[in-house]
Amino acid sequence: MDSSPYLVIGASGTVGSELVRLLAAAGHRVRALTRNPDKLTKLPSGVQIVAGDLSQLESLPAAFAGASRVFLATNGPWIASLEAAAVDMARQQGAERIVKLSGRHLEESCWADRGLAKRHSDSENHLRQSGVPWTIVRAGLFASNVLLWRVREQGGLHLPVGDGRDTPTDPRDLAAVAFEALTAPGHAGRTYEITGPEYLTYPEMVDRLSRATGRRLTFSDIPAEALCVGLEAAGVPAAQAGSTLDYFAMVRGGLIYPPTATAQTVLGRPARRFADWVRDHLTLLK
Ligand SMILES: NC(=O)c1ccc[n+]([C@@H]2O[C@H](COP(=O)([O-])OP(=O)(O)OC[C@H]3O[C@@H](n4cnc5c(N)ncnc54)[C@H](OP(=O)(O)O)[C@@H]3O)[C@@H](O)[C@H]2O)c1
Repeated sequence: MDSSPYLVIGASGTVGSELVRLLAAAGHRVRALTRNPDKLTKLPSGVQIVAGDLSQLESLPAAFAGASRVFLATNGPWIASLEAAAVDMARQQGAERIVKLSGRHLEESCWADRGLAKRHSDSENHLRQSGVPWTIVRAGLFASNVLLWRVREQGGLHLPVGDGRDTPTDPRDLAAVAFEALTAPGHAGRTYEITGPEYLTYPEMVDRLSRATGRRLTFSDIPAEALCVGLEAAGVPAAQAGSTLDYFAMVRGGLIYPPTATAQTVLGRPARRFADWVRDHLTLLK
């Protein structure tokens, strides 16, 4: 087993936190990078926490030193520049493999030249040209977004998506694919589109949530303007709100690509269904 540490950027995040658990459970040395070490309290024992901010270059050399394999997930309006800084630092420090978490619909969609899609495609391109062996994991909609959408508090889902279909994806499967790409041979130069196995409407997701929680949850198809007002009132930054509205417009327009079988191919088992994620997170939903 390689004894150099795996550096997980985004270790406090949805996928990164699960990846840290998988790497630690498999006996790998793990270094978790965060801007707020005080908040990163629920990591497995033995994981090294390092303070670092990708927008503060002077904070990075110590965090990256000696890490041969790097997982990269960030968020927000500066994904492209933050991730470029990480890739450059990883190369300077001799990294041998980088796995980046990305999104789908980067090339062909109506939003390819702007917003989140542009940030991820700029970041992907920088990584591909870096000279460091890479794998890109393009994720479908995280099933865990239902927590962000406050299903419990809102009594259901109220989103401008009509009867458009989506591919809810279990973040644990994304972490499992990242684990494979970091630890096993044969994944360099591959771009994986990882989704859940189902192509569900949002009312179908609400139906599964209702059945699992035993609560009568409802779906309503609200105007995009209503969501826009809600995001603004919640203090969501304009860039993030714009990407959210773009995304739901794609859902409503039937533009979300169907599920892929790539998780099954990489993991050798079926991808988890939306109902599996719901069942395993019932305490957060009831
Ligand atoms: N949610 C979805 O449905 C979905 C679908 C497809 C793709 N994605 C992509 O998946 C990625 C993760 O999404 P998410 O919203 O779920 O994120 P998240 O779990 O909130 O995690 C974001 C991580 O980025 C780290 N980070 C942000 N800025 C940083 C900086 N300046 N320096 C170091 N670390 C920084 C944060 O670390 P600290 O705060 O600990 O420093 C945090 O761990 C995003 O790129 C998103 O576009 C999401």
